[in-house]
Amino acid sequence: MNNPMPKVKRIHHVAIVVDEMEKSLSFWRDVLGLNPSEIRDVPEQKSQVAFLPAGESEIELVKPTSGDSGIARFLARRGPGMHHICVEVDDIQTMLAQLKARGVHLINEMPITTAFGKKYAFIHPESTGGVLVELYEA
Ligand code: CO
Repeated sequence: MNNPMPKVKRIHHVAIVVDEMEKSLSFWRDVLGLNPSEIRDVPEQKSQVAFLPAGESEIELVKPTSGDSGIARFLARRGPGMHHICVEVDDIQTMLAQLKARGVHLINEMPITTAFGKKYAFIHPESTGGVLVELYEA
C-alpha cells in the first residue's frame, strides 16, 4: 500500500430511526433545544428526515414513509433507536478500496453519488463491533 490512509475528518451525523417525527422532535428540539435546519421527504429512500445541527455534527432523524423500505424493516424489527454513525472522510474511493483490501465487510463497495454530488457508502456492522457506519465525502 503506497497511498496514505484517507482521513476521517469528523462525525458528520448520527442517524436515529423514529416512528413519529413530532414525538421525536418533542425531545430533540423542544427539550434539548436543537433546531432543525431542514425537514424533508426523501422519496428515493421512502423516508422523511430531519437534520438537527449540533456543533460540527448533526442528529438526523429518519422516519419511514412506506412499509417496504430498509428503514421500515429496521423499525419493525428493532423499534425506534440508533441506526448509524456517519463519518466524513476526505477520500471515500481510496478508503473503500483500502478497507476492502483489509477484509472489512462493505455493504457498498463503490460509493453512491447523490443528486447533489456527494458520495456515501456503508460498512457492515459485523466489521465494526455492531454499529452500522456510513462513510461520507462532501
Ligand atoms: Co446517514
